[in-house]
Amino acid sequence: MEKIIITGCAGFIGSHLTETLLAAGYKVIGIDNFHPYYDIALKKQNLQSALQNSHFQFYEVDILKVSQLEKIFSENPSSTVVHLAALPGVRNSFEHPEEYFKINTEGTQSVFETALRQGIRHFLFSSSSSVYGEMQGQKAVEDVTPPNPISPYAKSKVEAEKVILHLAESQSFSVNILRFFTVYGPRQRPDMAFQKFRRKILAGETIELYGANISRDFTPVNRIVRGLEHALHYRNGVEIFNLGSGIKTPVKDIILQIGHELGLTPHIQIIPQQKGDPSFTLSDISKAKKLLNY
Ligand code: UGA
Repeated sequence: MEKIIITGCAGFIGSHLTETLLAAGYKVIGIDNFHPYYDIALKKQNLQSALQNSHFQFYEVDILKVSQLEKIFSENPSSTVVHLAALPGVRNSFEHPEEYFKINTEGTQSVFETALRQGIRHFLFSSSSSVYGEMQGQKAVEDVTPPNPISPYAKSKVEAEKVILHLAESQSFSVNILRFFTVYGPRQRPDMAFQKFRRKILAGETIELYGANISRDFTPVNRIVRGLEHALHYRNGVEIFNLGSGIKTPVKDIILQIGHELGLTPHIQIIPQQKGDPSFTLSDISKAKKLLNY
């Protein structure tokens, strides 16, 4: 039975991937440090179902603690590491840029170098649509659109990608760098828009819309998980893939839709676009479709 290591297994995307891989017959070694960026009770709840499965082994460990990682990797010989652990939140990253760099960039280096020392030669890495910055109304194409980060979070992901590309120059391994586009669905992080909008509409509070025309390529979490599953079977050097929907949706439409589903009228106040927030994101997903059958 193939063993996969997943960092960030208690998070929004990590917990879905963990459950899906267990259901598909993999053994999963999950690592998470329950970082208090949001309520750790939610993260523990995310893991409840996986913890019932005897093919799941959980380690509460910080990815920056190299000796602890080394021990886990050496005790659990695995074929692949899926590195999802990160400090998320585009706008929040202006408050603590150093912490973002430490966890997202140095943390990625720590995971990859440790895994390489333990002989692991296949990786999946969760990068972000934010690496593109302002897309100027154009679809982002992985090998054409250059990174142009406009927040510390986005910079920390660009730097993490560079660490991986640099390691790939001296070592032989396969890595799929996956740039996720604003993911939504069950267990979405409470700081993200869908959750925030829902809470505010239910409480009758005013929602601040960060720019009248702001739009996103919103991607359902099950699609991201399918993309990751396909990427597990793609071992062909270093490749970067967008995982998005390829559809642009105005954020205002999402607020109205959530209001409609709740049977309540949302109160919306339009305020200026926020620092670090691109006004528009849209993925070209033809590469993922062609090579990953996404
Ligand atoms: C999201 C994630 O939070 C990042 O971790 C991830 O890296 C990024 O997607 C990505 O695509 O890579 P973001 O697009 O900002 O970042 O996601 P949300 O926080 O869910 O916001 C969605 C949209 O709603 C944004 O356009 C934001 O400006 C808008 N928004 C959010 C508002 O207009 N008002 C709010 O109160 C909150």
